[in-house]
Amino acid sequence: MPLWVVLAGFLLAACGNDMRDQPRYDPLAPAPGWPNDQSARVPVEGTVARDESLQPVPDTLPEPLTRELLERGGQRYEIFCSPCHGDSGRGDGMVVQRGFPAPPSLHGAHLREIPLRHFYDVIENGFGRMYAYGARVPARDRWAIAAYIRALQLSQYAKLDDLAPRQRKQLQRESREDTP
Ligand code: HEC
Repeated sequence: MPLWVVLAGFLLAACGNDMRDQPRYDPLAPAPGWPNDQSARVPVEGTVARDESLQPVPDTLPEPLTRELLERGGQRYEIFCSPCHGDSGRGDGMVVQRGFPAPPSLHGAHLREIPLRHFYDVIENGFGRMYAYGARVPARDRWAIAAYIRALQLSQYAKLDDLAPRQRKQLQRESREDTP
């Protein structure tokens, strides 16, 4: 093998190393000299992320309410909301038990009567001391969580008449068994 090929091989190998060792920031690492000393940048004002729709946000659920959507909402609620709002929505999540200011119960009259869109907006933009989740919870999931919260509210205020006849009978049977 000619000497120049061997030398070129060395050069290229060094090249590979350089590319591996490029200067970069770890996610959320501080970056002195940049605005707020942050390496993470906020989107430029007036720009739209590729996965955000340019359509105006509708006032209520933009797709049919299905079991799949509710289950998705429940799963997202558990991940993003229950640490503070609690599984039941009463504002007693683990983060609150460790000292974070308690959010209001999701079962108060005010939030039971509020239009669905309010939950969508609170998730996207935050509310008071609550952080905005718009960057982490995409539009469809915001609706799914909003729908799940409505279901959670109904679950706490269901009337006997709301149940299917079979469930109603079962409940009556069980409560008869419970009474001594
Ligand atoms: C880190 C804790 C925390 C998490 C996580 C959190 N919240 Fe909150 N939330 C709060 C606090 C605290 C308030 C009360 C804020 C205030 O009044 O200053 C609040 C208020 C609210 C309200 C009441 C708004 C009103 O009109 O009174 C709604 C609705 C709500 N949150 C929904 C959600 C949903 C949905 C999620 C999940 C995507 C979520 N929150 C995640 C802490 C949290």
